[in-house]
Amino acid sequence: SKVSQRYRTGYHFQPSKHWINDPNGPMYYNGIYHLFYQYNPRGAVWGNIVWAHSVSTDLINWAPLEPALYPTEPFDINGCWSGSATILPGNKPVILYTGIDTQNRQVQNIAVPKNLSDPYLREWTKPGHNPLMVPAGDINVSSFRDPTTAWWGNGHWKVLVGNKRGRRGMALLYRSRDFVTWKKSPHPLHSAPGTGMWECPDFFPVSLAGEEGLDASRTGVGVKHVLKVSLDSSRFEYYTVGRYFPEKDRYIPDNTSADNAMGLRFDYGNFYASKTFFDAGKKRRILWGWTNESDTAADDVAKGWAGIQTIPRKLWLDKSGRQIVQWPIQELEALRQNGVHLRKVHLRKGGIVEVKGITAAQADVEVTFSLPNLKKAEPFDPSWDDPQQQCSRRGATVEGGVGPFGLLALASRNLDEYTSIFFRVFKAQDKHVVLMCSDQTRSSLRTEVYKPAFGGFVYVDLEDGKLSLRSLIDNSVVESFGAGGKTCITSRVYPILAVAEGAHLYAFNNGSEPVQLVKLKAWSMRRPRMN
Ligand code: FRU
Repeated sequence: SKVSQRYRTGYHFQPSKHWINDPNGPMYYNGIYHLFYQYNPRGAVWGNIVWAHSVSTDLINWAPLEPALYPTEPFDINGCWSGSATILPGNKPVILYTGIDTQNRQVQNIAVPKNLSDPYLREWTKPGHNPLMVPAGDINVSSFRDPTTAWWGNGHWKVLVGNKRGRRGMALLYRSRDFVTWKKSPHPLHSAPGTGMWECPDFFPVSLAGEEGLDASRTGVGVKHVLKVSLDSSRFEYYTVGRYFPEKDRYIPDNTSADNAMGLRFDYGNFYASKTFFDAGKKRRILWGWTNESDTAADDVAKGWAGIQTIPRKLWLDKSGRQIVQWPIQELEALRQNGVHLRKVHLRKGGIVEVKGITAAQADVEVTFSLPNLKKAEPFDPSWDDPQQQCSRRGATVEGGVGPFGLLALASRNLDEYTSIFFRVFKAQDKHVVLMCSDQTRSSLRTEVYKPAFGGFVYVDLEDGKLSLRSLIDNSVVESFGAGGKTCITSRVYPILAVAEGAHLYAFNNGSEPVQLVKLKAWSMRRPRMN
């Protein structure tokens, strides 16, 4: 089958062809980063799922290996679904994954490297004591999957498995003393009514001070925990920051963010089944997420490929202790070239400036705006609790008081096509409310592709009167980071005019109040070695 290069990304993770979904078992082991992922070796639609495997020394350049896990045994003969890696004492990596067994039940299995002296860990074996966990009792056999990285505490290894009972989503907790015999804890670590199946749970500690990442087993003073779940019903992910009590194996979310169904999101756009890992080499926690296509299944078959992974993001707890902050790993900056620099550009109402001299279809852009006058901010109606709805109601051309201002990425010369990433500032009772949008509605003249206007609120006080935005533009994806990574939004777009040399990049302001572009830096992005 032929692989169409149209819309293929230049520096995002993807294999040479076919379907991909969830990132699986990311880890750093003896100087090498491993990424496994859900993969269909036979086509550009979901099915025949195996664990494909790539390795890297910088998380940017990737070399493909043979699939690490594929159906071979009664306990995974119908598929090797998502899971995680754990590095056991003695520097021994293991994988926990969901197998679809002969009866189409979801069970949790273990796999270990065949040969620990192979630096790439190419071959994995499945010990005879599999499966480790089966859907016993009243556990629904088709809602029991996606084991987390294991952590150690109180004399036990512990692991979460996604589950639901009726409409109550939950993270089941399993314990083991020896990593061989596993027993379900009488209560889940956490659950929430009305949320449906919790796919791909992720549970990890974050430091209350600074950006350093922590190993999965860290607890105690100075540490908070994050629980993230991917909701099958909405295809969105939610996380809470909270407290973990290892003796009781309870997790209690702080009341700083609504719990789960309406909690916070790592990304307010096209981003799912994400997973973090602790990079012991650089002492940071890194987040991977799957970004699906927004064109049609027929388009995917015609293209010969579907799905990418986001640029790995370093992740840490914000100073406020209330939310997570994310930033593209610094290694990405090695791909930057032909930097251009704008300073102090005044943008009155209707002002627009083109960023020239870079490959606008494949670029990295960082911009800081200053907002001299917030008095004209429009009043915020407290019933506007759904940011995506607010972004759908008012696009980049709809004049406001302060904003919309931001970027037009993948824009055609006459603005027949563009993806707009912008802010609007509103005035609430005793604070400002900042809305960030990544609006795909004008991204393509094609009508059959999915073109939502994604949005999220940005929790900043605007005391310094500044707002920053970074966008990673890569042919059919725009990954944006508002206010230093407090709010992130990923969009998949399929322009027909704004491709290759036909793509342009602009900064704009369509608010009645002028804003100043304090500084803007943009770079063309080189292609790394990508599988
Ligand atoms: C999430 C998911 C997981 C499952 C895998 C199957 O996208 O549905 O729950 O393990 O994909 O490919």
